[in-house]
Amino acid sequence: MSFDQAQAEAAALRDHVSAANTAYHTEDAPQMSDADYDAAKRRLMQIEAQFPELARADSPTQKIGAAPAEGFGKIRHEQRMMSLGNAFADEDVADFIRGIRKYLGLSDGDLPMTAEPKIDGLSLSLRYENGVLIYAATRGDGEVGENVTENARTISDIPTRLTNAPDILEVRGEVYMSHSDFADLNAAQEARGDKRFANPRNAAAGSLRQLDAKVTQARPLRFFAYAWGVVSQPLAETQSGAIARLAELGFQTNPLTKRCTTVAELIAHYHDIEHQRADLGYDIDGVVYKVDDLAFQRRLGFRSTTPRWAIAHKFPAELAWTRLDAIEIQVGRTGALSPVARLVPVTVGGVVVSNATLHNEDYIAGRNSNGEDIRGGRDIRVGDWVQIYRAGDVIPKIADVDVSRRPDDAQPFVFPTHCDQCGSEAIREEGDAVRRCSGGLICPAQAVEKLSHFVSRGAFDIDGLGAKQVESFYEDGWIKEPADIFTLRDRFGPGQLRQLKNREGWGDKSAEKLFDAIDSARKVPLAKLIFALGLRHVGEVASSDLARHFGTWDVLIEAVDRARPAELRHTQAEAAVLRERQAAQSAGRSAKIKPTRDHIWAQDPKVALPARAAWDDLVSIDGIGAVVAVSLVGSFAQEAERASIDRLVAQLDIQAAEKPKTDTAIAGKTIVFTGSLEKMTRAEAKARAEELGAKVAGSVSKKTDILVAGPGAGSKATKAADLGIEVIDEDAWIALAGAQ
Ligand code: IVH
Repeated sequence: MSFDQAQAEAAALRDHVSAANTAYHTEDAPQMSDADYDAAKRRLMQIEAQFPELARADSPTQKIGAAPAEGFGKIRHEQRMMSLGNAFADEDVADFIRGIRKYLGLSDGDLPMTAEPKIDGLSLSLRYENGVLIYAATRGDGEVGENVTENARTISDIPTRLTNAPDILEVRGEVYMSHSDFADLNAAQEARGDKRFANPRNAAAGSLRQLDAKVTQARPLRFFAYAWGVVSQPLAETQSGAIARLAELGFQTNPLTKRCTTVAELIAHYHDIEHQRADLGYDIDGVVYKVDDLAFQRRLGFRSTTPRWAIAHKFPAELAWTRLDAIEIQVGRTGALSPVARLVPVTVGGVVVSNATLHNEDYIAGRNSNGEDIRGGRDIRVGDWVQIYRAGDVIPKIADVDVSRRPDDAQPFVFPTHCDQCGSEAIREEGDAVRRCSGGLICPAQAVEKLSHFVSRGAFDIDGLGAKQVESFYEDGWIKEPADIFTLRDRFGPGQLRQLKNREGWGDKSAEKLFDAIDSARKVPLAKLIFALGLRHVGEVASSDLARHFGTWDVLIEAVDRARPAELRHTQAEAAVLRERQAAQSAGRSAKIKPTRDHIWAQDPKVALPARAAWDDLVSIDGIGAVVAVSLVGSFAQEAERASIDRLVAQLDIQAAEKPKTDTAIAGKTIVFTGSLEKMTRAEAKARAEELGAKVAGSVSKKTDILVAGPGAGSKATKAADLGIEVIDEDAWIALAGAQ
């Protein structure tokens, strides 16, 4: 058979088999016998095997094959999948718009935005190359998602081929399930004796993440396109234009998307959508606002995990009343004693809630962190009727308490002063709302929480070693700290393996698999390691900011250690802030006093200057403030904790973070901006410089490479001239930064 013959026959077979698929699966009206279908598909497979160039990703031979043996493959998003910042009040929206204007240096006047429903489903990225769907990936941690291509192909809203699309196009949007499909699915689940889904989002997620695509196919999923990732040619010049283009390409886009030009218009559309919410037939949890002009979007860029050009205006939380059965105290990985409300189960917005957070002892007593009354000063007692609310994914909270229904014998809650896990005193430092167990590493609750966090998703995420397993390894004395995980294989003799096998249902194979998974986890990106340490205030965002800034573990540690004396000074400053707060409170003034640099540097002037420079360096990192810095420096300075971290690091092969760019004209240079900039704002200039691998400093020193001086530049320009530093004007800066 010639290539041309094969090509023609393959095309005919593809159409034939695809039509049969649609008739069978979508229309429920089979066109041909199973035997004919199988024969046609086999013939197509033969041709594709003989002429691999004809084996296209959209061929029906690629559909629904056997389920992957083990979970889903991973796909690294070429462009990160972002989440959104939240606005709850109208004022937050106004702030957001003000912030954008400031960043872009726009004066008053229209700022076109789009407003559209925030679909409550799960996000999906679809990559098309030359018009053919190549893969579909879930968001995952934003950088790496799960390959759900086979499942996505079964969703009728997702075209497998596009005409007139850019050569490379990543379409992003939300997979969701309609209310009626959800009700039908749950009825069917119930009839089969299977578990009901809590809400349409869970049902959609559970359906998309099925190892067997046939199951997904039987579930009625839908898809709205609202964004894009990599594109080889721009879709349009505006957000609204790009969405219109996606609609032209055959995607479903939300009909309630509207272009607005003022904050008032955005809010009006928000209320309009809110009024239609109950009749939409699918769940939404807010309205997303996006800057319409894509050139502005590009200038605004991204923070670590959210765009600066979009925000989600959430709907108010849903409410329900129930009885508080008990208050339990949980000890977290940083020793915080967190009170949790155990509730008589109640449905709030379609989800059954039986626990809610009570935050801290003041909250239970009816006070906020400034000592002011909340809930009219009403405390919360076991036996009370409480009003529960939940908004989106957040842990349910208690909005109010009905004292008229309070049982006569209900007693005020007495917050424990000792940790019930290790007996250590639980201390509440002045100015801190939280009481913390002082047991540190000797407290089993803290150790187990730290370990669970260490192996959690987003941290080391080791296959076969979840929270349950680390807890039982901890109880057996096998793993006391993260470093122990990595010496497990060496310490496990055949005798212990038998023990393990008997008790936990492990076999030789599963133990071997676990050890292999542990070994491959040794190679860890710097950001993941920092996050996995579970230091107070150092979450995923701060961890990746730190990793990007310092690049390697050694550089990070060295910088943090150098900043240590300054941290001591910071502690003194905190005490000073506290004194001011108390003075303000007793004088009846607002006690909302935040620590500033002045508080810090007003302290002991003897603190060595290098420490100050190191401290300044740390807190000048975009996203890292004094709170994170104090936690970082303080944790690394604690001997036991540091020794434990050092033991861990000795077991690992830490991957340097993606280096800031080195191939640009300003890479590695330290730039200071002074005077006013007219073509871009300071924040934008800083972000642009950092993007190009430069460091932006606040003051001129010998280390400064370039001073960008706008009109009104003062002493910095003089100092730069004295030091012989290159001084350029804004146009030269734009040429330097824009030419890359
Ligand atoms: S835009 C870079 N638009 O909300 C901006 N997201 O809370 C990407 N979502 O991860 C997101 N409806 O899964 C956008 N109309 C909409 C959305 C939407 C739902 C989801 C999305 C995102 C999450 C953030």
